Amino acid sequence: MQELNRINVGRINTPIEKLNNLTKYFNKGDIYIKRDDLTGLAMGGNKTRKLDYLVNYALDNGYNTLLTYGAMQTNHGRLTIGAAAKYNLNSILVIEGKAPELLEGNLALDAMMNGEIVFVDTEDLAEEEAKNKVQEVVDNIIYERKQQNDKVLAIPMGGSNTIGAFGYMQCIKEIIDDEEWKDETIDYLVCPYGTAGTYAGLVLGAKYYKANFVIVGIPVFVEPFDVHECVKLANNLAIELDIETRVTIDDLIIEGGLHNNRFALPGYGKTNKEQREAMYLMARQEGIILDPVYTGKMFYGFCELMNENYFSNSNVMLLHTGGYPGLFTSKHIKDISDDLKDCIKQY
Ligand SMILES: Cc1ncc(COP(=O)(O)O)c(C=O)c1O
Repeated sequence: MQELNRINVGRINTPIEKLNNLTKYFNKGDIYIKRDDLTGLAMGGNKTRKLDYLVNYALDNGYNTLLTYGAMQTNHGRLTIGAAAKYNLNSILVIEGKAPELLEGNLALDAMMNGEIVFVDTEDLAEEEAKNKVQEVVDNIIYERKQQNDKVLAIPMGGSNTIGAFGYMQCIKEIIDDEEWKDETIDYLVCPYGTAGTYAGLVLGAKYYKANFVIVGIPVFVEPFDVHECVKLANNLAIELDIETRVTIDDLIIEGGLHNNRFALPGYGKTNKEQREAMYLMARQEGIILDPVYTGKMFYGFCELMNENYFSNSNVMLLHTGGYPGLFTSKHIKDISDDLKDCIKQY
């Protein structure tokens, strides 16, 4: 295999833990968690593994500025800005929307790490027009920066290109090689499915390294990322690595529906009471905090599948992909405060 070079933007070799209380709670096989929330850099998360390769590529190719895109609370944006700070690069984060008055959650951290945050107001524009407007702003920024002798690396949303996906292909090897859990059998690895870089890397890795477990994706978008594009991403990576392994659509296990996904409702970045109950279950049973946008949805989907006996007494590993800062935004804190006000005693 044509190995890609990496640097340590944060830390990999994250711990695997057995969730003893949840295992007892469901009583249907062992439950484990891979703690990719503990990757260190700027409060951690899955994008660290991707950035190990993306930042290495930027440094090797003389880029001095990282530019990326995202939603208002993009974790990928935060970690890209953090990695840029660590390696003395400039960072620009382009967000589709109106600049808010309050820098909540990820945005506060982005500003603390000196990211340049560019908002592109696309209100009232159709999807295609909005996309074009964002692209126009990005092209202008890159042009202007070039005039100032900057070299800008544009990283796609979620870091989901082949270089980024390689980070998650390697995560499979890390799981298989983990000395502490080598003798345990894992049948399923469950992860959130967003822009598919994580999933594409995992599914190619599972096939290439002959893992004994299959990868189940739980979408975070009601209209999940196109599965054909996910296959294409995995196979483009395989071609770049010069390996013969290929992924087909049959290797993909995306649960909850490819349209109007039942686990992703009521919508990206929004939760319902059942999803929050799943987050509270994890917090109360294991002292592990999930975020409302990605890992909370994944765990909600997992609980639903568990209740439907989907995993039929097998052992399951959950991938904790981080995302904490998004929890600390007013809409989520308001929901949690309303749900849990009975916890409060005033003397
Ligand atoms: C915390 C968290 N988990 C999961 C994901 C999904 O990863 P991917 O976009 O690679 O599917 C993201 C993506 O932004 C994320 O921020």
